[in-house]
Amino acid sequence: MKLSQIESFKVTSHPQHSRIKHIELCPDSVHNFFEEVANVSSQQLENVAFIRFHVAKALRESLGAELTQMLKQTLHDRATGGFTIGLSDYVQDFDSFLKFSTAVAYSVGISNFDDMSGEYYAVFDVKHSFDSDTNLRKAYRNLELHTDGVFMNEVTDWLLMMKLKEQHAEGGESRFLHIEDWEDAGKFQKHPLASHKFKYTYAHRKSKNITDVVYDSVFYKKDNQICMRFNDQCTFPETEEQAEYLREISESVEKSSGTKSVKLPVGHLVVLNNHFWLHGRESFKENEKLFRQLMRQRGVFHKNAIKK
Ligand SMILES: [Fe+2]
Repeated sequence: MKLSQIESFKVTSHPQHSRIKHIELCPDSVHNFFEEVANVSSQQLENVAFIRFHVAKALRESLGAELTQMLKQTLHDRATGGFTIGLSDYVQDFDSFLKFSTAVAYSVGISNFDDMSGEYYAVFDVKHSFDSDTNLRKAYRNLELHTDGVFMNEVTDWLLMMKLKEQHAEGGESRFLHIEDWEDAGKFQKHPLASHKFKYTYAHRKSKNITDVVYDSVFYKKDNQICMRFNDQCTFPETEEQAEYLREISESVEKSSGTKSVKLPVGHLVVLNNHFWLHGRESFKENEKLFRQLMRQRGVFHKNAIKK
């Protein structure tokens, strides 16, 4: 029996970050969802874009239109712009995780093609030792706060990260900063370089598999609200003054009291509005057996999405 929409999920503030909503799903409704999509395979999801919409429809029908409406509204709401949602221990396999994350992603928008993986999602591991040319997979250093897609010509409205596996991991939590919680935001927005079009590219990093070169400002307005694009590793200043401006921003967001660590259990995912949230990662405590696997999806909002 399908539960009413109100009974199928519960919304609270995330215990570690009050701006983020935490959504708990009723196990019976989750069970209904997986029954509805039992015949969908990962290969179909990868190869056939309309199947991704189909799993989002199954989520809406199993958990209620109120849930998907609330997910969209939350991402567009400047006051929050983020949520966590999880499957607890209901399922543990990759196919189920892909179905669920795709259903959530396609409830709010459309996932962009991921150049790193060649699919609409990417899975990456963090291990004790990893031969990587970016900080994404380097376990024992911070991954600095940034927004996604800075170096790409396409728009990145939102990002989704889901934890798939984790063993012997201490530390390494996600770190999030909402631009409204950043004490120095006004100071850097008013700086003469706030509208300077910096050069962003990852063409020099083979693993990124992308040759776009983008020129754009750090700050911009969307829906009349100040937004931000920032990624220390792909930005190329041309003067010492520009370099200092970027370095000071990076230092300021890292030490901001608004930057908070959020623990994401296996089977849970976080979705953030990429226009006004920065994200990063703490370093891990050294352990030779360390293993973490994450999935990411990044995308755009539906064209008819609710605008606040
Ligand atoms: Fe990122």
